[in-house]
Amino acid sequence: MIDDVLRFFRTLDSKDLRILTGIEIGMKNYEWVPLEEIRKYTKLSFEQLEYRLFKLFKSKIVVGTKSPYEGYQIYFDGYDALALNTFLKRGTVSAIGDEIGVGKESVVHEAIQEPELAIADPIPVIIKFHREGRTSFKRVKRVRDHLADREHFSWIYAARLAAKREYDIMQTLYGKISIPKPLDYNRHAIVMAPAKGSILVKTRLLEPEWVLDEILSQIKIVYSEGIIHSDLSEYNIFVSDEGVEFIDWPQYVTLEHPHADELLERDVFNVLTHFKRKYNLGKDMGEVISQIKASV
Ligand SMILES: Nc1ncnc2c1ncn2[C@@H]1O[C@H](COP(=O)(O)OP(=O)(O)OP(=O)(O)O)[C@@H](O)[C@H]1O
Ligand SMILES: [Mg+2]
Repeated sequence: MIDDVLRFFRTLDSKDLRILTGIEIGMKNYEWVPLEEIRKYTKLSFEQLEYRLFKLFKSKIVVGTKSPYEGYQIYFDGYDALALNTFLKRGTVSAIGDEIGVGKESVVHEAIQEPELAIADPIPVIIKFHREGRTSFKRVKRVRDHLADREHFSWIYAARLAAKREYDIMQTLYGKISIPKPLDYNRHAIVMAPAKGSILVKTRLLEPEWVLDEILSQIKIVYSEGIIHSDLSEYNIFVSDEGVEFIDWPQYVTLEHPHADELLERDVFNVLTHFKRKYNLGKDMGEVISQIKASV
């Protein structure tokens, strides 16, 4: 999916991107943005616009309908292209590479940032395109011309909100705990540094006690900042010789959350279960929890 976008992205010029932006803006008011609205925004002739829309439609960057009127919308592919274009313009990304992860709610790519000094090596970065709202969008996909409740726009809101939430908490926590450095964010996408090492689930640890202690002490620092990750497991922890890094933050909660205790317990439970199963390392859950809470 995204790979199609990337291949296609190279053939998108500024006029195509203007069309996508016009549709994006129009989608605040229309489920299917009328051709005339797009024309007004892009100031292209009808012939030009029809030709380009057909090209975009064929590459599945835009979705179109002919009835009750000719209208267009974009979905995640088009939205990815717009976010990527913004990163390219800002220079936070200079080229995008392979997909390295696809989760329930995101598609993650490696990318490269041009170094400030031309002689320096390119800097590897990660782009996480959020995908929240994807399933609900399909459910609400109906042909209606104008929605007062903007339900048709909900996937964009959901994915944007999650990206902003994740970027903001990463900025707050960066420097206090070990997480990848957040570098930029736009629409539903985040640029960040690559996490060091490898993902815990795919790693055979030589010193599991040391790593477990590192993880628990990070959880404790996060907690002392008033935060609970809430989706912690061997899938969201990277391990290297230097220590551990937690990724995947959009579902974090603060200590005031009504289920804060249960969420903390679930995080700790997932971690302890992993170490028990894979390394037969046992720790008392109650003791671990009170140690974490002792800091607050
Ligand atoms: N900063 C990073 N460095 C290296 N790899 C990363 C980074 N961020 C994400 N990934 C890779 O992308 C995958 C998905 O990322 P992440 O866990 O943030 O998204 P997700 O869609 O919320 O995942 P899920 O909901 O399935 O847990 C990760 O498992 C990891 O392999
Ligand atoms: Mg994850």
